[in-house]
Amino acid sequence: MPSLQAVVFVNGTITRAQDAVVPVFDHGFLYGEGVYETLRTYGGQPFLFHPHMERLRNSARLMRLDVPYDDAQMLQHIDATTAAYVRHFGPVGEIYIRILLTRGVGGLTYAPDACPAPTLVIIVKAFPFPASDSFSKGIRVSLVSVRRNHPDALNPAIKSNNLLNNALAMQEALRHGGDEALMQNQAGHVVECSQSNFFIVKDGQVATAPLAAGLLPGITRAFVIDLAREMDLIVSEVDYSPADVFAADEAFITGTTREVTPVIAVDEHLIGDGTPGQVTLRLLEAFRRSLPTADTRTSGSGRRTDY
Ligand SMILES: Cc1ncc(COP(=O)(O)O)c(C=O)c1O
Repeated sequence: MPSLQAVVFVNGTITRAQDAVVPVFDHGFLYGEGVYETLRTYGGQPFLFHPHMERLRNSARLMRLDVPYDDAQMLQHIDATTAAYVRHFGPVGEIYIRILLTRGVGGLTYAPDACPAPTLVIIVKAFPFPASDSFSKGIRVSLVSVRRNHPDALNPAIKSNNLLNNALAMQEALRHGGDEALMQNQAGHVVECSQSNFFIVKDGQVATAPLAAGLLPGITRAFVIDLAREMDLIVSEVDYSPADVFAADEAFITGTTREVTPVIAVDEHLIGDGTPGQVTLRLLEAFRRSLPTADTRTSGSGRRTDY
């Protein structure tokens, strides 16, 4: 196994990554039955922790999985895992946190009562900062043929460990030189990317697909929509097509690890003049200005609470 500089909590046992073990009969492994969240810290504090926990609970509810931990217990486990990271690898700046909750260990059946207890895994590692020129120069995305899961088949609102749809999309994008995969739903509307939400800007107005189109309700998406409206920008959640993207003045993605990242091209189509747009850069600046300096653990979700 490659040496992974990470520390992992598995149901209360904390080890280095190479020693972390989940049984083969865990339904997370067998069937991809589980949910997850990715968080990062700013100033050492998990950002928008409560909205992430709320989304984890919602994902779990949509697959009828109990989350037998409250937010305070989850934070204690994150803290213990982070402390172990520091013991193993020394002081760390910002960290990446991935929480996974699976159906747990059980026999070879889909019956949920085969699994008496869910498995909780928390992965902690140093935060892998994106290249700084992804913010200053922007990224290229590729419009892929893989459609986002239809909500009636596997609802993209479930942040599920079953990431085959996302992985196939991203792998197609990588083959075409894209840094992200832009995806459509079955109706041909642009919904989101494989690991981020997608926005366009036209005539100074911001647009993104509505949740009903079938996409993950991104925590950063909601945060940025609030931020844009506070800046008196018009933000609409509307269906739009690839042609609207090609005709846009600007485009950007949002995500926990990508903040607000300008998109300068979709395959061979330049967006606007092929450089990061002014509205996008203003939003990125506002996003960075709004990052908490206070302890977000005691002040809920920082400045915003409605998610
Ligand atoms: C499919 C998908 N859409 C959007 C996002 C962005 O969500 P968030 O802002 O909560 O990180 C992610 C994040 O991993 C994702 O996997």
